[in-house]
Amino acid sequence: MGQFRFITAGESHGKGLVTIVEGMVAGLPLEAEYINKELKRRQQGYGRGPRMEIEQDKVEIISGVRYGLTIGSPIALFIPNRDWQNWQEQLSVTPVDKEAEPITRPRPGHADLAGVTKYSLKDIRPIMERASARETASRVAAGAIAKRFLEELGIVIHSHTIAIGTCHCERSEAISINWQRVEASPVRCVDAEAEKEMMAAIDKAKAEGDTLGGIFELIATGVPISLGSHVSWERRLDGRIAQAIISINAVKGVEIGSGFALTKLKGSQAHDVIEPGPSSSLRGASATKQSLPWHHATNYAGGIEGGISNGEEIIIRAAVKPIATLAKPLSSIDLRSGEVAKAHYERSDICVVPAAGVIGEAMLAIILADACLEKFGGDNLKETLANYHNYISHISLWR
Ligand SMILES: Cc1cc2nc3c(=O)[nH]c(=O)nc-3n(C[C@H](O)[C@H](O)[C@H](O)COP(=O)(O)O)c2cc1C
Repeated sequence: MGQFRFITAGESHGKGLVTIVEGMVAGLPLEAEYINKELKRRQQGYGRGPRMEIEQDKVEIISGVRYGLTIGSPIALFIPNRDWQNWQEQLSVTPVDKEAEPITRPRPGHADLAGVTKYSLKDIRPIMERASARETASRVAAGAIAKRFLEELGIVIHSHTIAIGTCHCERSEAISINWQRVEASPVRCVDAEAEKEMMAAIDKAKAEGDTLGGIFELIATGVPISLGSHVSWERRLDGRIAQAIISINAVKGVEIGSGFALTKLKGSQAHDVIEPGPSSSLRGASATKQSLPWHHATNYAGGIEGGISNGEEIIIRAAVKPIATLAKPLSSIDLRSGEVAKAHYERSDICVVPAAGVIGEAMLAIILADACLEKFGGDNLKETLANYHNYISHISLWR
């Protein structure tokens, strides 16, 4: 990451999550309530476990904000874990008289086995605590700050569920998505029929002691042309986004634009023809502040060509695997004896695709905020906005 960075700390059942966000400009209006709304969105979704009823995340802004405006210094955030009170013994920072019984049966598909081996630990608990997606609350908090900044540039990011298990909802390019419907949907799905099927599939998996994965899609509108660069591998916007998205727990695949589907098309069918004049549709960056003297007729590229944003909507899809903690556990071994044993089980989610979409929004926001700061610079929001307007208003044909 470049100018806009963040680091997180905290165990899933520890005292809380700490996030430090660095590189945000001064002068950005920011209040805890804005971050809390995003945290709440992450906690929703049909198929989450009972933990979500215990935790109602609320952030405390510790530094970097004064009188509701960022001041340019690192922004420290604290999200307490309400469940901590039940775990104080098990996760005590100081030595205790009687340590908790170690967890010794690694869950296939989780960080357990590789984690204890790597860190030479004799208890899986510390690995579970940090590999848990509780950490993603921190990412959503950092992402909320990035989103707040992007809003000032007219960039908005949404997510919706494309698939849960084998239930699929293919969106039509021609029809704009009703985001209010998505927000109200328990599975963040735009289609009412598909939503019903998805919820029934989750119920079935739950009844069978099983879990389900799926696909979410991210759409960023208002993204200015020129973010990222083709000149070096690590500066490519597509690469930066892919890394951020695949770093989300349980995400196993990332697709940009039409991605894998492009492999079945010929070159003459797969690319987005360039046409003169600004876009007449509501798609793309031209819909907001940027008015380009050209547009693409389609958006198979998902808004990125040559590692650079091309002014169209950025479209990303991510594949989420089924959750690894199963009420009917898979076969594993007991690391103390080497004997075959059922994997460890403790309360868990059944399906996290809708929540993963919200986390995806946060990660995409972080990458786009970083890329905007890199492109437009500035230490104060006014300076960044002046640079941004100056840049986009000077994009023209060569005459
Ligand atoms: C929002 C969200 C919630 C999750 N909840 C659980 C859970 O309750 N139980 C579980 O085993 N895995 C859960 N996961 C997935 C694990 O964190 C993840 O599979 C694990 O860290 C191993 O990493 P990997 O799957 O990326 O290889 C969740 C993931 C997300 C995005």
